Amino acid sequence: MDAQGASVSEVRVLFGEAEIARRVDELARSIAAAIQGDFVIVGLLKGSFVFVADLARALHRVGAAPRIEFLRLSSYGLAKQSGGEVHLIGDIPTDIAGQQVLLVDDIVDTGRSIAYAQALLRQREAARLWSCALVDKPSRREVEVTADFVGFTVPDVFIAGYGIDYAERYRDLPYIGVVE
Ligand code: IMP
Ligand code: MG
Repeated sequence: MDAQGASVSEVRVLFGEAEIARRVDELARSIAAAIQGDFVIVGLLKGSFVFVADLARALHRVGAAPRIEFLRLSSYGLAKQSGGEVHLIGDIPTDIAGQQVLLVDDIVDTGRSIAYAQALLRQREAARLWSCALVDKPSRREVEVTADFVGFTVPDVFIAGYGIDYAERYRDLPYIGVVE
């Protein structure tokens, strides 16, 4: 493992800090090459907050200057399994009609959250819409949806760290690991 500092025994390191940083830089280069002109990042809370913070700065380093907004969707609560239904519990205060949008989430699992957010942003008439997920779990998909930019693909494991929680714990970990 290349995580610095203490690791937590019940979260086995999968992607360490240096590996995440490298991948975020690569994603930023791909995104900057694909999106011409102004765009707004719409992050999905709470899981994407660390990723959005690092991605925004990586985009800055490659010459992009996105604006940043967040949507908050209902979460898993305290379980490892999704309840299935997604609700909007925190909205963007500004109008995104006519703007280029990069939707950013931590994980695409069943696909329900990102599909919900995509439908919402299309309904609000975003001019163009791309999606970026730090982690993709394609084997778990229930709704047919793909992200345009994916950091890491993992099998059906439950992960935490780097903004991603298990029952609201581990968001502070600087690495991503499997919850044992
Ligand atoms: P989906 O709607 O099923 O695609 O799930 C998306 C959301 O569920 C993610 O943004 C995460 O917040 C959460 N989630 C999915 N898989 C995991 C996991 O392995 N660990 C922690 N949260 C997860
Ligand atoms: Mg979550």
